[in-house]
Amino acid sequence: MCGIFGCTSLREGVSRVIYDSLKRLEYRGYDSVGLATIYNGHIFIKKDQGKIEEVERKLEISKLPGRCGIGHTRWATHGAPSKENAHPLTDCEGKVAVVHNGIIENYLELREELASAGHKLRSRTDSEVIAHLVEDFLNKGLAIEEAVRRAALLLRGSYAFAVISALYNDAIICVRMESPLVIGVSRDFVCCSSDVPALPPEVESVVIMNDGELAVLTPRAIAIEDLVSGQQLPLKPLSKESVGSLADRGGFAHYMVKEIHEQPQVALNVMSAPRAFIFKLANELVKPDRVYLIGCGTSYHACVFGTYLLRLMADIDAHPVVASEFHSSCIRMTPNTAVLAISQSGETADVLQVLRALRDKDVKLLALTNVMGSSITRLVSLYVGLYAGPEVGVAATKTFIAQLLMLTRICTEAARIKGVNHDLASSAEKFLRSSASLIEKAISVNEPRAKDIAVDIALRDNAFFLARGINIVTALEGALKLKEISYIHAEGYPAGESKHGPIALVEEGYPCIFICPRDETYNKIIGNIMEMKARGAFVVSCVEEGDRDVKEVSDKTFVLPEIELKQLTPVLHVVPLQLLAYYAALARGCDPDRPRNLAKSVTVT
Ligand code: F6R
Repeated sequence: MCGIFGCTSLREGVSRVIYDSLKRLEYRGYDSVGLATIYNGHIFIKKDQGKIEEVERKLEISKLPGRCGIGHTRWATHGAPSKENAHPLTDCEGKVAVVHNGIIENYLELREELASAGHKLRSRTDSEVIAHLVEDFLNKGLAIEEAVRRAALLLRGSYAFAVISALYNDAIICVRMESPLVIGVSRDFVCCSSDVPALPPEVESVVIMNDGELAVLTPRAIAIEDLVSGQQLPLKPLSKESVGSLADRGGFAHYMVKEIHEQPQVALNVMSAPRAFIFKLANELVKPDRVYLIGCGTSYHACVFGTYLLRLMADIDAHPVVASEFHSSCIRMTPNTAVLAISQSGETADVLQVLRALRDKDVKLLALTNVMGSSITRLVSLYVGLYAGPEVGVAATKTFIAQLLMLTRICTEAARIKGVNHDLASSAEKFLRSSASLIEKAISVNEPRAKDIAVDIALRDNAFFLARGINIVTALEGALKLKEISYIHAEGYPAGESKHGPIALVEEGYPCIFICPRDETYNKIIGNIMEMKARGAFVVSCVEEGDRDVKEVSDKTFVLPEIELKQLTPVLHVVPLQLLAYYAALARGCDPDRPRNLAKSVTVT
């Protein structure tokens, strides 16, 4: 995690450009922030613990002088959030400043070597070693670019970093190794950023750096070279539009609620994705003996949904695996195996680690991701985009809906290719065609209910989300959304399992949220509701229009449009749970866009 940004400009006022971009990167981390610029041969630094706007109010970091600088928004890994550990970090003399994202695995041994050579390390971070290593090479008379290259070659781990030096007025040297980094070019400046959506509006073209590359940026020039050989590499600029557009809140109080409201449009986008792309991916899924779907968090929930549908609709031997648990000891690879990685950001380290480990094996690597040009897209042989547009809220919402819908399209196509389950495929197609208006209705009917129910839920410290069958995905996702942004402890559980332990927690007023479409699990779930009610639970149920039986035994309900293919009900039933989490967070005074301890891209394993 962490966001890095650097800018070298023909004009004064670069710290404002960096500050504005750091605000767009804040979703990557927000426990501390800092900025460094070069002015009159000196490096000026302002940094502190806290959110970017708090630090700006205190230190006016956007007013540092100069035309060249770097900035950082931090999600702490090594060293607690504090002023000392905030980036930029400097060498002994304050002549080199560095911002870093990722992990330097061998930092302890490097620290020891640097300390015994007389360097004074002031932070507890792994990142500070970079500044001191560069200092060492500069002291040996090397030019900055060579000093950074030599320093980078001593590092082990995954990282992206940017360096400035007081000896070079307008140069930024940056390196990418398994953490994202892009370069933006405008008429007046050149910048580097952890992410495309953070690039300033003036940027006209984008160069996506590859792992193992070093770039030298000045206001009028970019040079990229291979980190190991130093050989100059050709530039491949792309238009900004082709790699993603900027996002703003568009009148909503938070990105999260804006992104929930964008879901009908996302459904239309998914439907407009060219069929040829979906066909190609589906064709790769029907060939292997076995398919593993890997992901983390919300994307893992999409993997569970995709597994269920691949088996049901296309008779594919599919298995979901949490990416961080994908070890050769628990996975049986056949000579004809495929891995479908699902990741909104395309940068999740746990997922990338699996793909890198399998790259040279005889395994077909495939992906679904929302970020074109992300690391995942370079590691797989085929990927399909999610067409959800940039997602800024830390809690995934619209990209989850995009994942479910795209998986539905892929499974439908796979069924068609295999010539099986025609009725299921036709029903899925019918659902997909009306999915935008169904999701629209799910939002408009349930938003007032979510506001109301959130008032009760917000008073509690715990909640259960219970379901059977495919809606266990919905329960898991509802619980994850609630806990991550409102800090209410929530568990998603198979309803049938609740009597094997969890029910012991239930007492008067304990919130139990049930997902109850009228599928083959309906009668059993009413039984589970009754068990909870008998112990005083406060029961909230997601039901389909026209439902009477569940409504009668529930304290409150969310009402969803009825659909024919019940296996697709998670697409609709998760919507009120997203809204419930959002309004519960507001009721508890939490910031839904910036939950504590979390970041949008999890680039550490
Ligand atoms: C939850 C959430 C996380 C992510 C997880 C994987 O709302 O956003 O659980 O789903 O960190 O991220 P991606 O999908 O980028 O691989």
